[in-house]
Amino acid sequence: MSTEIVKKIKKAAVIPVIEIDSVEDAIPLANALLEGGINIVEITLRSSKAIKCAEEIIKNVKSISVGVGTLISADQVTSAIDIGVDFAFSPGCNPKIINLSIKENLLFIPGISTPTEIEIAYDNGCNILKYFHSESNGGLTYLKNIYKPYNHLNLKFIPTGGVNLSNCLNYINNDFVLAIGSSWIAPKELIKSKNWNLITSNARSFLKKIKNQFH
Ligand code: 3PG
Repeated sequence: MSTEIVKKIKKAAVIPVIEIDSVEDAIPLANALLEGGINIVEITLRSSKAIKCAEEIIKNVKSISVGVGTLISADQVTSAIDIGVDFAFSPGCNPKIINLSIKENLLFIPGISTPTEIEIAYDNGCNILKYFHSESNGGLTYLKNIYKPYNHLNLKFIPTGGVNLSNCLNYINNDFVLAIGSSWIAPKELIKSKNWNLITSNARSFLKKIKNQFH
């Protein structure tokens, strides 16, 4: 867990979760996040253009670290590695994807929401887990309770799903929270309407709220 990218995720504290389907929006989006102080992003693979968008950012905006999300197939693992992503997420916990990613040396963070999934992820070699869908599952209280039996394993979680400006403080200041994921900073409507200023301002607001209190 001491890789540079894990340190960067921890330092960033929040990973914007992005749904984007227009390649021309990729670079302006990355620049808007950087302008707001965020140097890390997750591009979810939920549109035919998503991988191209991630590639555009990787090629042209060197100071932002790019991961992909919703990685659910072996082909997507190959595409993600081909374009040089720094990390990858999935909402679910698929041992086939975990094992392929480990083999290819890709930091893959599977989604968990039950003790069984924690055990599957851990047994397959993962120490960093996305807790999804955080707010619907019971937020931090539920995570704390299901993690109790595994505390000694020193796992780290990235709660995601329903995490926004108003509830983000619930998650911080817990050793087992590596960072939080949120689409609140750059929701797809703001990207579609090319509202880069508001995305920058959202990034600033989020960081202002959490930075002094994180870890
Ligand atoms: C994800 O893909 O990780 C979630 O859709 C992000 O959840 P949010 O939109 O509630 O932030």
